[in-house]
Amino acid sequence: MKTIKIGLMGLGNIGTGTYKLLEMNRRQIESAAGAHISIDKIFEKDVEKDRGISVDPSKFTQDPDSILKDPGTDIVIELLGGIQPATDFMLEAMNNKKHVVTANKAAIAASFDKLSKCSEENGVAFRFEASTGGGIPILNAITTALQANEFHEVLGIVNGTTNYILTQMSDFGLGYEDALKSAQAKGFAEADPTADVEGSDSANKLTILMALMFGKYVKPEDIPTEGISKITKAQIEEAKASGCRIKLLASARIKDGKLEYGVEPVVLKNDHPLAGVGNEFNAIFVSGNAVGDLMFYGKGAGPLPTASAVLGDVIQIARASKTIGGE
Ligand code: HSE
Repeated sequence: MKTIKIGLMGLGNIGTGTYKLLEMNRRQIESAAGAHISIDKIFEKDVEKDRGISVDPSKFTQDPDSILKDPGTDIVIELLGGIQPATDFMLEAMNNKKHVVTANKAAIAASFDKLSKCSEENGVAFRFEASTGGGIPILNAITTALQANEFHEVLGIVNGTTNYILTQMSDFGLGYEDALKSAQAKGFAEADPTADVEGSDSANKLTILMALMFGKYVKPEDIPTEGISKITKAQIEEAKASGCRIKLLASARIKDGKLEYGVEPVVLKNDHPLAGVGNEFNAIFVSGNAVGDLMFYGKGAGPLPTASAVLGDVIQIARASKTIGGE
């Protein structure tokens, strides 16, 4: 069997989850990929931290070029987060004919066209299932099985941290700060949770969904966005008393030939299908002109669900590409 060599950039929550999942399900993953998968190098500054995994220290590198310029690297998994230097690293990897897998919604949303064009020009894969909906294979679904549809709407809960906070405040009586701390401890939140609570993480994901579903790139900063940081306990209790829950929704629809979009907290009746989506779970409705309405539901944040999407992308690249890994 051939061996696919991976350069992993970032050993934070998702990088560690990816490393763990590969160890946990190696036989299943390699059988699906038709190749041995070897994480050869890890670009990570913090080599001392106890992550609950055993990593050969010689794999660590502080030099991005030792991955990006190494002719032996087949796939770069970028899990650094943040727009830069992650975007430059991904462009450099693709320009050096390496396939790229990332979970980095901020970087993709900021430079969707540039990154997509770079992958096309270099004839390499650029896959980012983990960027939207965590473990839910929403991007695979809309770009493969549902491609025969014209889409007219997408609506959903696409941020696990805020959904976790709202659920904990509403159903378990936690205060905002305690709920946020708990979301951070569970590895749901961004390094800077402002992106979660102010809605920009949801806007990044909506940018990606709109680009893939409607073929229209809308900059995340052009999406009207309101987060949950101003929602008070009193508002949550008031909603609860009237048989409702507050949820942070991202939505886009074609109306009178125009695309309308936004991210905002919405008061939903308890019998609305999205009202029962709790904690770090995400749920995304899509509506297509042939298939009708579909709802995708699952864990939208957290190390292992996100790693499931990352390694799913690695497997798909391995299966599609006969030219990597050698024999
Ligand atoms: N911080 C993100 C969330 C991680 O809570 O949804 C998954 O994209």
